Amino acid sequence: MKKLFSEFSIKNIEIKNRICVPPMVVGLAKDGYVTAENLDRYKELAKGGPGLIIQEATCINKDGRLSEKQIGIWEDNQIEGLKNIVNAVHEEGCKIFIQIHHAGVTGISKSPLCPSPYEYKGFAGTVIGREMTKEDIESIQKDYIEAVRRSYEAGYDGVELHGCHGYLISQFLNKNVNKRTDEYGTNPERFVLEILEGIRKVTPEEFVVGIRLGGFEPSIEDGVSYAKILDKSGIDFLDISYGFFNEQEINVNKDYKYSNAVYAAEKIKQEVSIPVFAVNGINSAEIAEEILDETNVDIVDIGKGILINPNWANHAMDGKDTGKCLNCAKCMWFGQSEVCPGKVIFDKNNK
Ligand SMILES: Cc1cc2nc3c(=O)[nH]c(=O)nc-3n(C[C@H](O)[C@H](O)[C@H](O)COP(=O)(O)O)c2cc1C
Ligand code: SF4
Repeated sequence: MKKLFSEFSIKNIEIKNRICVPPMVVGLAKDGYVTAENLDRYKELAKGGPGLIIQEATCINKDGRLSEKQIGIWEDNQIEGLKNIVNAVHEEGCKIFIQIHHAGVTGISKSPLCPSPYEYKGFAGTVIGREMTKEDIESIQKDYIEAVRRSYEAGYDGVELHGCHGYLISQFLNKNVNKRTDEYGTNPERFVLEILEGIRKVTPEEFVVGIRLGGFEPSIEDGVSYAKILDKSGIDFLDISYGFFNEQEINVNKDYKYSNAVYAAEKIKQEVSIPVFAVNGINSAEIAEEILDETNVDIVDIGKGILINPNWANHAMDGKDTGKCLNCAKCMWFGQSEVCPGKVIFDKNNK
């Protein structure tokens, strides 16, 4: 596990190993404010030994929430609770970024915004996004920028813009969703690049600003092209996942050894000069090490593996069983974590 446990730096943020806990909303905040449960969860995650935690999708305004229980960063009074998370994680020698999010048409808003009037079929039925005016665009961009200013003030080591999984930035980037004929449609990356430009005006140059980007938005060629544009525009890292789930055009050889998202990260790493994170289905320390070696990505995200076993990184370091996600059709961590079969088995075997 030579590479997995080697140090890595992004700008001047030193990360003790290559294991990152990716953002995972598990739903515990109250009215957008951090609760004692949120705090305990991050303490537990940091104690488990990863080099970096990316805090769950944290919303820039109430209208953009994906759930009632999501943590928010839309007002200054929220900074105190966020600071408590940062301090608790730092006490364990772990670094923490925060994922900055707006759901657009895929959120809980009754009248959700979207770059175009896109029809979205979600769990709660079908909604049609309200096409954003230029004023809407400007106002939401300001909310992103203000959210990042608050993140910096709360002491986070960096931010990750949520730019994938079908949320607002992903809705702009995906041409199957964004049908605008103005400059935000002809240059779909303009929405996020203007946010990045605004962020750089309110935070010091050394502050780390990255993005979670869809590798297939909708195709791998688009994913690679956006990654190159963002690299040239001064983004500090790329965390590569899936794009808009209903609108991807995935074309990956069936024989590829790892997940399609890892494939996209490998391809993108070949084309950019900045750190790239890979995610999805990395379910043992051996596979994590192999992916770092074979694909040349810099950091691996261990998501559900760490939900099952928050001590995943410590156990991997000691050569112990880290547990296994069973890839259930519906992950129980969206509401019923106590019946996660992977966790039940792991806890039973490790009493
Ligand atoms: C309960 C749960 C919540 C998640 N919340 C987020 C989130 O807030 N932001 C995000 O970008 N991805 C989110 N994800 C996706 C994970 O970050 C990760 O990309 C995904 O679980 C695949 O990695 P894995 O196979 O290691 O679990 C979530 C996943 C789960 C299971
Ligand atoms: S509920 Fe299933 S898919 Fe989700 S973490 Fe547990 S074992 Fe994995």
